[in-house]
Amino acid sequence: MMERWRSRKVVIIGAGAVGSTFAYALAQSGMADEIVLTDMDHNLAQGQVMDLAHGLPFYPNVQINVGEAKDTRDAHVIVITAGSKQRPGESRLNLLQRNASIIENIMDEIQAQHSQAVVLVVSNPVDVLTYVAQRRVNWPRGRILGSGTVLDSARFRYLLSQHCGLSVHNVHAYVLGEHGDSEFAAWSLSHVAGMHFEDYCQMCGECQDWQKERQQIEEAVRTSAYHIIGYKGATYYAVGQALVRIVSAIVRNEKSVLTVSTFLDGEYGLTDVCLGVPATVGEAGVERIIESVLPAEEQAALEHSASVIKGALAEMAASSS
Ligand SMILES: NC(=O)c1ccc[n+]([C@@H]2O[C@H](COP(=O)([O-])OP(=O)(O)OC[C@H]3O[C@@H](n4cnc5c(N)ncnc54)[C@H](O)[C@@H]3O)[C@@H](O)[C@H]2O)c1
Repeated sequence: MMERWRSRKVVIIGAGAVGSTFAYALAQSGMADEIVLTDMDHNLAQGQVMDLAHGLPFYPNVQINVGEAKDTRDAHVIVITAGSKQRPGESRLNLLQRNASIIENIMDEIQAQHSQAVVLVVSNPVDVLTYVAQRRVNWPRGRILGSGTVLDSARFRYLLSQHCGLSVHNVHAYVLGEHGDSEFAAWSLSHVAGMHFEDYCQMCGECQDWQKERQQIEEAVRTSAYHIIGYKGATYYAVGQALVRIVSAIVRNEKSVLTVSTFLDGEYGLTDVCLGVPATVGEAGVERIIESVLPAEEQAALEHSASVIKGALAEMAASSS
């Protein structure tokens, strides 16, 4: 019987800062047997692959190659990091339309290859583009996911762990909603040793005003990317690790709970939108959305995020009709 995909083959479309850093982290992780990089700038893909492949003696066994469309045919995971940058004077909407058409073309090419892969969208705005990808092909919804707020949740855990003087591995915390300005910290789902942060803060008692300090942490998470981009032009290391985490969950069929962006069809009272919510991720992509009962203010924040994403989609549809 023909296998649906070649075991642990990962194709990365877009070999820029994020795509190449992810490839590097993935090679070191030992989670892939074959990594293929493609880019519309073939020389860039070629150069990145040569540079990465010269480290082969030092990675766990892996093949790293430059690819083309037909490589998606037997991939298990296709990670899309291709995107356009804002041109001088270009509106946000225009950029969004250009990135949406890049994603649509890539999805058309993947479909033309009859690929059975799981597609992970990373390009921004990731929730809008995950929806665009989903609508283009109409596959079972779990097969297309976005990186969502996996990175934001990692930033949140890191900042909380620093603040509380705890190992980051013992801080369980989630950011939900849009990967962007309307995201929010889901304090009701966040805990240490099974204790809600509310209770933990009261027990710890070291903060003068923990409500205020929590707000500052949440704000720092939300604005992290702006600061990093201000300092060095782009973010790529932590997102590279977040992508290794998601791809590992797929290729190892882990059923890991991750706040990926996924198409909602009634969960959390929301429909026809992609958003970051906790979901189990395994070999087929998103296998189950974990629907928690959120307190009213968090539910309202999730609904606000959904309306922001829907607003962007509506704006895009109106300008193209
Ligand atoms: N979701 C997240 O958490 C997250 C985090 C960081 C960055 N990002 C996003 O990831 C994307 C990539 O960021 P970057 O810093 O690597 O940008 P980059 O400009 O360095 O790389 C993008 C690459 O995409 C290529 N490309 C453009 N159109 C293509 C097409 N049709 N087919 C193949 N390749 C194509 C370009 O040639 C370029 O090499 C951006 O949209 C960025 O906003 C997302």
